[in-house]
Amino acid sequence: MNSFTHNPVLVAEVLAALAPMTGRRYLDGTLGGAGHAVEILKASSPAGWLLGIDRDGTALAAAAERLAPFAGRYELRHGTFDRMGEWVEPGSCDGVLLDLGVSSPQLDHPGRGFSFREDGPLDMRMDPSSGGTTAAAWVNSAAVEELERIFFEYGEEPRARRLARAIGEERNVQPLTSTRQLAALIERTTPRGGARLHPATRAFQALRMVVNDELGQLRRGLEAALLALRPGGRLAVITFHSLEVRVLKQFARPLTLDYTFDGEIDVPELRRPKPPELRWVVRRAQTASDAELAANPRARSAQLRVLERMGHGS
Ligand SMILES: C[S@@+](CC[C@H](N)C(=O)[O-])C[C@H]1O[C@@H](n2cnc3c(N)ncnc32)[C@H](O)[C@@H]1O
Repeated sequence: MNSFTHNPVLVAEVLAALAPMTGRRYLDGTLGGAGHAVEILKASSPAGWLLGIDRDGTALAAAAERLAPFAGRYELRHGTFDRMGEWVEPGSCDGVLLDLGVSSPQLDHPGRGFSFREDGPLDMRMDPSSGGTTAAAWVNSAAVEELERIFFEYGEEPRARRLARAIGEERNVQPLTSTRQLAALIERTTPRGGARLHPATRAFQALRMVVNDELGQLRRGLEAALLALRPGGRLAVITFHSLEVRVLKQFARPLTLDYTFDGEIDVPELRRPKPPELRWVVRRAQTASDAELAANPRARSAQLRVLERMGHGS
């Protein structure tokens, strides 16, 4: 029995998109607590196969327990999903799932440093075993202008400049080392009387995204997923942030066109025809039903979009 509990979001929608079948091969690049993976393996019984990847060793250990009944039908890898090409043959996957962001246990365990509600080390690395820069190391060393940019762009924090300057002043007195220390600074600097979101929500999200290079991972992961899919195979992506949606659309745009063009500007006379590599199956986001939202508030900002690889056999 383990205490890793994460309620998977949009499960019915993911199953409808991937339509798992026996004998087929699936890749879950964000295995987490294996909520989606269990359903994919059940739906592809008796002989569907799944590769599960997660950069968080704690999640993998929990997933291994939940997946035990499917022994022989799955393999697990500890690492980032942008490396999926090292672990699957090109063109071999019938479905790839990326359910982005963090899991509930990562957010809820104060020792991981994602939570501003409880005190813990200012860490936020999804994979602490990887080395890598902690949130503390980053906030204590980044230029004030860079702090401002990240809070503004990733956190959509309207008072990014004020917050960045306050951090710059505070760290001259003492380094920022704990989540409560940073949260208290944010509460003092950018109070939000009566607002629904805690004032630290956006800044903590921005830090998490930079510490884990989440948008870089997504850009490279989407390219890797395209190579991993067989023609007719599907890529399901669950996003929680508008910048993730932008990265997904920028990735899909040239690949879904039936022409290409040189340079920055698409001039109709200079187009050259080419077959599209992808087609949208679900382009307008699918979101959680009222029933799911009532049961799982984390589904609030979840959006599912689905692409299919074109080519022979699709
Ligand atoms: C939202 S949770 C996934 C939950 C999962 N679908 C389930 O049903 O339990 C996201 C998971 O993806 C992992 N993750 C995030 N970015 C990753 C990346 N670039 N490579 C591998 N794993 C990643 C996190 O560690 C976390 O466990």
